[in-house]
Amino acid sequence: MKKIVITGAASGLGEALAKHYAKQGWAVCVADIQEEAGQALAQQLASAHGTDCFFHSLDVTSESQWQDLYNAVAARWKGVDALINNAGVASSGDIDDLPLKDFQWTIDVNLMGVVKGCYFFTPMLKKQGGYIINVASMAGLIHVPGMSAYNVSKAAVVALSETLCAELESYNIKVSVLCPAFFQTNLTKNMRATHSAGIKVANRLMENSSVTADDIAAQVFTDSAAGKFHILTHKRENMFWRLKRFLPKAYMNLMKKTGEKMHKKMTEKSA
Ligand SMILES: NC(=O)c1ccc[n+]([C@@H]2O[C@H](COP(=O)([O-])OP(=O)(O)OC[C@H]3O[C@@H](n4cnc5c(N)ncnc54)[C@H](O)[C@@H]3O)[C@@H](O)[C@H]2O)c1
Repeated sequence: MKKIVITGAASGLGEALAKHYAKQGWAVCVADIQEEAGQALAQQLASAHGTDCFFHSLDVTSESQWQDLYNAVAARWKGVDALINNAGVASSGDIDDLPLKDFQWTIDVNLMGVVKGCYFFTPMLKKQGGYIINVASMAGLIHVPGMSAYNVSKAAVVALSETLCAELESYNIKVSVLCPAFFQTNLTKNMRATHSAGIKVANRLMENSSVTADDIAAQVFTDSAAGKFHILTHKRENMFWRLKRFLPKAYMNLMKKTGEKMHKKMTEKSA
């Protein structure tokens, strides 16, 4: 039986991933700060699919909790076939507006949480080969104004993943990075935003998305197994990334116009 550790698996995309892998017969470690929801999901998956699914409490920012998780997985499974660093948080606000502690929080969870996951589980994966899938975002490839903390955290996850993809190839560890645009989850519930408009816009984009967490989970399963590095789930938004690579000036002008529009809206509101 194949075994996977998924962080942030108590809700949203992590939950969809846990369900998809369990359905495919994998044993799943549901790791999250949300104990009640995580426990319930692990029990549900174990009884529905008869695989060894269990919950482990994990705050991805805590080095000692990552060590505990590593010890628990080593004792229970002896090894692991895949790690998905999915846990994440959202923030928005201009650079001189978003409090530095919220910038730091975004980096601590979204970037350092992933770094710590890779640090602790790479030695286990090196012994047998397997998969590391890091959940970044389209925000890691194209960077809209007013979201510097989130953009920086996700761009760094893309850079980390690219580095590890080459670094770990000779250990038979396949590294993928997932870069979705908006889809419906609970991400905005704990979002830290300097203006309520930021949360409203994110909620609207999530509601209007035709891509679901289940669609993405299924694509992650097949694309990572096929050895794809970039896992891209949203066709329309992918075009902006293509624009950035092939027509960088046009892309930058588009971003500047977006920034101007946002600035105008904000000044109108505060007038
Ligand atoms: N929903 C979107 O539109 C969207 C778009 C692009 C990327 N993403 C990324 O997808 C990933 C999953 O988010 P989601 O949209 O499913 O949101 P979600 O809020 O539904 O799920 C996030 C999960 O992460 C957990 N989590 C948060 N902080 C944690 C911590 N410190 N330690 C452990 N667990 C923690 C939460 O408890 C929750 O279960 C995130 O990395 C997010 O940035 C989401």
